Amino acid sequence: MKSQSKTVVITGASSGIGLALAGAYLQRGDNVVGNARSTERLQEAAASLGSPANFLGVAGDVADPAVGDALIKQAVERFGQVDVLINNAGIFNAKPFVEYTQAEVEALVNTNLKGFFYPSQAAARHMVARKSGHIINITASIALQPNQSVPAVLPVLIKGGINQATKALALELAPHNIQVTAVAPGIVDTPLYTKDMHGFLNTLQPAGRIGTTREIVDAVLYLSDANFTTGIVLPVDGGMSSGKW
Ligand SMILES: NC(=O)c1ccc[n+]([C@@H]2O[C@H](COP(=O)([O-])OP(=O)(O)OC[C@H]3O[C@@H](n4cnc5c(N)ncnc54)[C@H](OP(=O)(O)O)[C@@H]3O)[C@@H](O)[C@H]2O)c1
Repeated sequence: MKSQSKTVVITGASSGIGLALAGAYLQRGDNVVGNARSTERLQEAAASLGSPANFLGVAGDVADPAVGDALIKQAVERFGQVDVLINNAGIFNAKPFVEYTQAEVEALVNTNLKGFFYPSQAAARHMVARKSGHIINITASIALQPNQSVPAVLPVLIKGGINQATKALALELAPHNIQVTAVAPGIVDTPLYTKDMHGFLNTLQPAGRIGTTREIVDAVLYLSDANFTTGIVLPVDGGMSSGKW
């Protein structure tokens, strides 16, 4: 039986996992509010999805609290409510600890940390009033099990913090019938990585290959329909975080 259509807000919807998520929800007949920094990139994304009427692009930097508010406000104005927020916008840079620049620290804190915090706050205010909703964070498997071959303290610090914040927020919002979960991808085939990097990246998963955006999408779709599942971090990583191999 087809469940009632949802309204899903996705940050970082112009590329990679976010674009694949937008396509999957639209295919189910759900409404999607997609965010990225520029209107042009969102227009390109909408065109690649077939310019559907139930897609609304809202441009802006997720680090800006006003953008979180605008995403929820415009979603409500256009579609009546927000059922799911997916905090997907994010950047990743792996390098030795001592080489991170101040600009890189600022960029990661802005996009990955504030980009989780402010949209989630705006969504939680709306969802508490509705007594219903789901917040899903896209984190990273490497934050569950750091790897000596991939020094990445800065993204691990922030994605790892969001993994824990997922649990803390799930507890806080459970009495309001709001679920908070995370999907922790291993390495996924997106524009984040060039094809010439795939040979090395394949070796980072026990499965011997990197993942597909569809494999991340399937986990998110499951969680957004799972109303009695909250506070979990679901690795989708070919075994990367299961132990040493
Ligand atoms: N790919 C992987 O192997 C992998 C592994 C683990 C975790 N992840 C996580 O999965 C998520 C998606 O990654 P991806 O591989 O799909 O990356 P991607 O292809 O580079 O896409 C990133 C998206 O985020 C948007 N974005 C970046 N900074 C933003 C900002 N400040 N405000 C609003 N939007 C912003 C980009 O849009 P514009 O550039 O158009 O603004 C783009 O739509 C990230 O959180 C990443 O850390 C990915």
